[in-house]
Amino acid sequence: MSILEVKNLKYKYDKYDDSSKYAIDDISFNIDEKDFVAIIGESGSGKSTLISHLNGLYKADSGEIYFKDKNIYSKDFDLTNLRFKCGVVFQYPEYQLFSETVIDDVAFGALKKGLSKDEAYDKSYEVLKLLGIEHLKDETPFNLSGGEKRKVAFAGVFVMNPDILIFDEPDAGLDPTSKVKFYNLIKSLNEKFGTTIIYITHNLDDVIEYANKVIVLKKGKVIKIGAPCDVLTDLKVMNDASLDMPYAAQIYHELTSKGYNIDKRKLKFNEIVESLTRLK
Ligand SMILES: Nc1ncnc2c1ncn2[C@@H]1O[C@H](COP(=O)(O)OP(=O)(O)O)[C@@H](O)[C@H]1O
Ligand SMILES: [Mg+2]
Repeated sequence: MSILEVKNLKYKYDKYDDSSKYAIDDISFNIDEKDFVAIIGESGSGKSTLISHLNGLYKADSGEIYFKDKNIYSKDFDLTNLRFKCGVVFQYPEYQLFSETVIDDVAFGALKKGLSKDEAYDKSYEVLKLLGIEHLKDETPFNLSGGEKRKVAFAGVFVMNPDILIFDEPDAGLDPTSKVKFYNLIKSLNEKFGTTIIYITHNLDDVIEYANKVIVLKKGKVIKIGAPCDVLTDLKVMNDASLDMPYAAQIYHELTSKGYNIDKRKLKFNEIVESLTRLK
C-alpha cells in the first residue's frame, strides 16, 4: 500500500521573480509502506527541498502530497500529527537541537505528542540506549561532536514512533564504523517494524546494499525511479544525472562486456563476491 504519494509538486524559493527556476519542478512518485528509498542527484538538484515538503514544513506552490491517502494540503488535515508520523532528520542537526540537556531535547517531541513526563523520559532514555549514547543524556547538545548531535537529532525524531523516517545525507561525516551501525539500525527498523525509510545520499554503493527503491533527481525533476540494480546500472540515467556508477555496477558492466554472465539483480557485496567465485 502506498504510504506517501507526491503528485505534480512544484516549488520555487523566489516567488516574486517570474524568471527564477523551480527548485522542485513537477515531481511525482509513490512510496509504499516498508520501502527503503534513496534519493540521489547532484548538488542543487532539489533533494533537500523535496524532503522538506514531505512532513509539511514547506508548502508546495502547486501539486499535492497524500499521506495514507489523505491530502496534506486539505483544510481538515492535521499537519502537527504529520510531523509525528513523518519524522525528518535534517542535514544540519544543530538546527534541530535547542534544549539544555540531551535527554530534555529527545523528550521534547514525546511530551508534545502527549506522553506523560515519566513515559516521555523513560522512552527517551531507551532510545538513547538504542543509539548507544545514553552516557550523553545530561550533556548540553551544543557541546557534542557532529556525529553525536546527529544521533541526538535522530533520537528526538525516533522517540515519536514515526511511520516514515527521513534523513538528509545521514552518512556525511560519519566514520565507517558508525556508518555501518547507523545503516544496520535503520535497516532493522525497516525490517522489524516496517518503518518506511527515505534518505538522501551520495554514496551509491550503499544504495545497492540497503535500498529497494531509488529516485534520481536532476534540476528539480525526477528522471528515474526504480530498483537500485536497474537504475544504477543504467548508463544513460547515470550520465544524465552526472553521477558516477557505484563499484558493483561498474563490475557488472565490465564483466558482462567481457562475456561473463552476471545477474544484474544480485549486486550487493556478498552477491557479487558469490558471482565472482563462480567465474572461470
Ligand atoms: N533557502 C534557499 N533559498 C533560495 N534558493 C535555495 C534555497 N535552498 C536551496 N535553494 C536552491 O534550490 C535548488 C535546490 O536546492 P537543494 O534542494 O538544496 O538541492 P540538493 O539538496 O539536491 O543539493 C538549488 O538551485 C538551490 O540553490
Ligand atoms: Mg541537500
